[in-house]
Amino acid sequence: MVAVVGGGQLARMMAAPATALGVTLRVLAESPDASAARAAHEVVVGLPGDANAMADLLADHVPTVLTWEHEHIPVAAFDAAGERGVPARPSLGALRYAQDKIEMRTKMDALGLPNPPWAEVHGADDVAHFLRAHGGEAVLKTARGGYDGKGVRVINSVADAAPWLAALATGGPRLLIEERVDFRRELAVQVARRPSGDVRSWPVVESIQRDGVCAEVIAPAPDLGPRLDEEARRLATTIARQLGVVGVLAVELFEREGRLIINELAMRPHNSGHWTIEGCVTSQFEQHLRAVLDLPLGDTSPVAPWTVMANVLGGERVDLASSLVAVNDPGAKVHLYGKGVRPGRKVGHVTVSGSELASVRARAAAAAAIVADGGVT
Ligand SMILES: Nc1ncnc2c1ncn2[C@@H]1O[C@H](COP(=O)(O)OP(=O)(O)O)[C@@H](O)[C@H]1O
Ligand SMILES: [Mg+2]
Repeated sequence: MVAVVGGGQLARMMAAPATALGVTLRVLAESPDASAARAAHEVVVGLPGDANAMADLLADHVPTVLTWEHEHIPVAAFDAAGERGVPARPSLGALRYAQDKIEMRTKMDALGLPNPPWAEVHGADDVAHFLRAHGGEAVLKTARGGYDGKGVRVINSVADAAPWLAALATGGPRLLIEERVDFRRELAVQVARRPSGDVRSWPVVESIQRDGVCAEVIAPAPDLGPRLDEEARRLATTIARQLGVVGVLAVELFEREGRLIINELAMRPHNSGHWTIEGCVTSQFEQHLRAVLDLPLGDTSPVAPWTVMANVLGGERVDLASSLVAVNDPGAKVHLYGKGVRPGRKVGHVTVSGSELASVRARAAAAAAIVADGGVT
């Protein structure tokens, strides 16, 4: 049995491969109608900071392993697993670098891996100093707690930073500031590592964000060339090994002038890897289960020349299942997460594979738009 903390779509999408592998999936979900609660084999309702909920998650048929579908995990949850002899994968020693962007940047510097120029922010003077040194523009981030661009803002003055500086002064999250990287595009690369050390990587993808949210993923990244593909895979493999990651690791990257710069790490299945469900021999969800269970890792080869994933972001329509009738493309694979629709929220995705990129891309976007809004764009 695998126990997963988190009731979102990432835990939900582990349910199908768990079923196929004959593995029971037990989730800790924040509510009984959470996305994963409606798909998992067993559900415990609660939060990872609640000792009773963790006790229930780890009780009865004691899980073989505990894993996470997000990084907002308190130390007490790791302790709860440790006390019961259930291995937590990835461990806190690894996950802390996905939980905290200051820890991550510090570690990447120590390993000699490519960061943008950055600094921790203790107050307004640090912001002013960094802006002066970097052409009057920068990206301010909260070290913890952000997702989908919520902890990220481009600033052009100290005044732009004022709300977060005020929060910092009253015990809010630590802040860091980064050069605004003038990237050609954003890439992502994923690897999986099992405790015995074996690592496998998937092809590098291009990820296109709109308003800080991933909108589209193109696999493989067009015109990347073998040098950058290998470099990105090597980078992610190095990070997985050096940080002792077990499970799937995603590395978000910027490509600038033929070079790679690290943006962010995620130690779990990631939006940039949803394309692997239909696009690869082994999906990121199956591979995460295999890795945390220390099973042999599956083949990561793509099964088509191109695969494109388009996210379904919440729009006007509330009952998304009712729009399936309008998706007439038999090759468009629709995934709905069973989540309440809110504007801009990730509520599903569509994947299309084929041999001609422009048409694959157009078909994925068209189907996603129909599901979200009846095709009105
Ligand atoms: N230093 C940077 N330079 C330019 N753009 C950035 C930088 N950092 C983040 N961004 C943009 O903001 C998006 C979200 O930032 P990220 O740190 O990945 O936060 P989140 O945790 O919300 O995914 C990135 O995908 C990228 O588009
Ligand atoms: Mg990100």
